[in-house]
Amino acid sequence: MAMAARRLLFSSSHLRPLAAAPHRRKHDAVSCKSTGKARTGTSTKPKDSGAGKWRPQRRALEEHLKRRTRSAGAFDADLYRRHSHSHHVPVLLGEVLAAFRRPLPLRSFVDCTLGAAGHSLAMMEAHPEMELHIGMDVDPSALEIGQRHVEAFLASRATDGGDSLQGVLRAYTHVKNFKYIKHVLGGVDESLLADSSGVDGILIDLGMSSMQVNRSDRGFSVLHDGPLDMRMDPKATLTAEDILNSWPELEVGRILRDYGEESNWQSLQRRIVKARQAGGLHSTGELVKLIQRSCTISGGRQGWIKTATRVFQALRIAVNDELRILEDTLHSCFDCLATDGRLAVISFHSLEDRIVKQTFLELIHGDGVDDGDEDLVCTDIDDEDEPWFKQRVKGMNGIILTKRPITPSQEEEKLNQRCRSAKLRVIQKA
Ligand SMILES: C[S@@+](CC[C@H](N)C(=O)[O-])C[C@H]1O[C@@H](n2cnc3c(N)ncnc32)[C@H](O)[C@@H]1O
Repeated sequence: MAMAARRLLFSSSHLRPLAAAPHRRKHDAVSCKSTGKARTGTSTKPKDSGAGKWRPQRRALEEHLKRRTRSAGAFDADLYRRHSHSHHVPVLLGEVLAAFRRPLPLRSFVDCTLGAAGHSLAMMEAHPEMELHIGMDVDPSALEIGQRHVEAFLASRATDGGDSLQGVLRAYTHVKNFKYIKHVLGGVDESLLADSSGVDGILIDLGMSSMQVNRSDRGFSVLHDGPLDMRMDPKATLTAEDILNSWPELEVGRILRDYGEESNWQSLQRRIVKARQAGGLHSTGELVKLIQRSCTISGGRQGWIKTATRVFQALRIAVNDELRILEDTLHSCFDCLATDGRLAVISFHSLEDRIVKQTFLELIHGDGVDDGDEDLVCTDIDDEDEPWFKQRVKGMNGIILTKRPITPSQEEEKLNQRCRSAKLRVIQKA
C-alpha cells in the first residue's frame, strides 16, 4: 500500500525576495465602474445627524448591499462543524470549495495563509486527486498548528488506504511571507515556475486567526492588555510601539487616516505624540485608555471599541506593510497559476478588498492594452455547474469570476461573528 509522502519542511530561509515585477502599479487608477469614489478617510455620513437617527438607515443600507453579495450556496452545517475548532473557524468554507470546483482535476494547491489549515484540510478532502499541497504562513506558531493538522489528516488518509486509490499527496509547509510564493514554489519544484506550468489553485485568507487574536502577548486584541507588538512575523523588527513612540507626527496621522479610515485621526495623532512627553505608550492597555479618553471628549459617536479597532487595524497594516505586500503578492500568485488555474482571496476590510478588486482588473487587463474598461466583457452567466458566479468580467489574460464579491450567508454569520466582514473574490487565468 502506498504511504502518504509527508514532506513537511520548515522555513527555507535561504530563499531570497523577488525583485518587484516591472508591470506593477501600472494601472493604479483602474477602478470598477460599479463602485463609487475611493474613500479618503472622511465619512460620508451626515455630520450631525445624531447617532440614533443614522444607525437604522445605515443598517438598512448595509443589509441591502449585503443581500446583493450574500453567498447563494446552501450553507453546509456539517462541513462547517467538521472543520471548525478552537484554533480557528475557517470562513466562507463552502464558497472556497465551490471556487475550486474547477479546474478538475485539481492536482496542485497552494494555501498562502495556512493558519490552522481549516481550508486546506477541506480542500484535500474534497480533492483526493490532489498531488501537491504547499502551505505557507509567516507566523511560525500558526504554521506549527496547521502543520500538525495536515500531518494528522495525511496519516489518517494513509491508514484508510486513500492514497493507494488516489496517488500520493506531497505536502510541504513553509514559514514564509506569502510575498515569497515564487521562491517557495521554485524551491519545491522548479518546473512549477516554467511558463507552460504553474499550480491549479491558490488561496489567500487574509487577516489573523483566532489563535493570534486571542493571545494577548501578540498585541492584536483591543480587549486584552499586552505589548504593543502586532508583528505577524516575530522576526520582523518594526513593532507598533516603535511607530507610536518614534515615527514622525505626520506619519502617525497618515496611517490612522489612510489605514484606519479613522475620522478622529488628528486628535488621536496629537494625543499619541503628546504621550511621548510622559514616556510614551508601552502596552495595548495604555493605547486603549488614550483612545477611550479621546472618544469621551469628542462624543465618541460609535463608541471607543470601534475607534480602537480602527486604530489597531491601522497599526497592524503599517507594522506588517500589509497593503503593499498584498498587491505585489496578487501579481506573483497570478504568475504562478497554470492555465485555467484559480486564485481566491478572502479579505476582511475595505482597504484590502479594494486592492484585490483593482489588482484583479489589472491582471485580466494585460500589459499591452490601454487603460479603460472597454475591452472587459461583463457577462451574466447561467452556468449550471457554477451558478453562484453570477457575473464575470473577462479580459485577455483571465476572467474575474466574481464581479461582485461573495459574502457569508446569514447562517454562517450567526455561527461566527468574525466572518461578518469577509469578502471572497476569485480570478481564473486564461
Ligand atoms: C485568517 S488566518 C488563516 C486561517 C486558515 N485559512 C484556516 O482555515 O485555518 C490568516 C493567516 O495568515 C497568516 N498571514 C498573515 N499575513 C501573512 C503573510 N504576509 N504571509 C503569510 N502568511 C500570512 C497569519 O499568520 C494567519 O495565520
